[in-house]
Amino acid sequence: MRALFKKIPPAIKALLLQFAALLLVLFVARATDMQPSFMTFALLCGLCAAVFSYLAGLQRWWLPIQLVFVPALVLMLALSIPPGFYLAAFLLLLAVYWSVFRTQVPLYLSSDKVWHALEDVLQDAQSGFRFIDLGSGLGGVLTHLASVRPDGRYSGVESAPLPFVWSWLRIKLGGYRNCKVHWGSIWDDSLGACDLGQYDVVFAYLSPVPMERLWNKARAEMRAGTVFVSSTFAVPEQSPSQTLQVDDLHRSRLLIWRM
Ligand SMILES: C[S@@+](CC[C@H](N)C(=O)[O-])C[C@H]1O[C@@H](n2cnc3c(N)ncnc32)[C@H](O)[C@@H]1O
Repeated sequence: MRALFKKIPPAIKALLLQFAALLLVLFVARATDMQPSFMTFALLCGLCAAVFSYLAGLQRWWLPIQLVFVPALVLMLALSIPPGFYLAAFLLLLAVYWSVFRTQVPLYLSSDKVWHALEDVLQDAQSGFRFIDLGSGLGGVLTHLASVRPDGRYSGVESAPLPFVWSWLRIKLGGYRNCKVHWGSIWDDSLGACDLGQYDVVFAYLSPVPMERLWNKARAEMRAGTVFVSSTFAVPEQSPSQTLQVDDLHRSRLLIWRM
């Protein structure tokens, strides 16, 4: 049971714990004949959900979310906002974040200083080199490099619909003939672009969660002498051949491995 619970993505765990808290508060209210106000009921649910989340080992930043989730629902209901607003907000978030509850890799963008640091990484790349951005977001990395190093060929893979469409339009409208973006998952073997054996430089800015799996994929597919770059996120137990510190707001680092 514990092993099964461990495998569940944190967002689903959080939701299950909210349900567990709701059931407990309902049960106690019934058993003690308590008739709390809506808000007291919501606060009790939030408190129980936060305690359950702490006991279940969810990361600390989940606790305030769990605490205020049901009280915030009650407050929002009191505002009588038309339901269409929630549907629209949900669809917008879905289009931007898509399967983030499973992948645990949300959309956040590399700074332009990271783009410039990547130019340094490409310094020795020979004309016609191939570059891929795994999880290419809005396509900023690809289009920047395509304009400063037009002698390369650039690919991106992006799973979230809105960022994909955005980057596709950015590439088409910007006239970047040496750039392509593919809609799909980096783990999808049937997507030809995901075979890392074709690239001279593989770039990823994801999250700590997929790094071990990505490293195994890179080791299995990349050719000797090609370069794997992870922005910010380390690979467990693998020291990079080189690290470039970037002087941006997030203090990003480029971790570089020569395969
Ligand atoms: C941190 S953002 C990086 C965006 C861009 N590479 C940059 O540096 O600005 C990570 C992106 O990876 C995408 N992503 C996450 N998991 C993915 C997967 N399995 N396949 C393809 N894209 C994925 C997310 O939707 C998000 O747009």
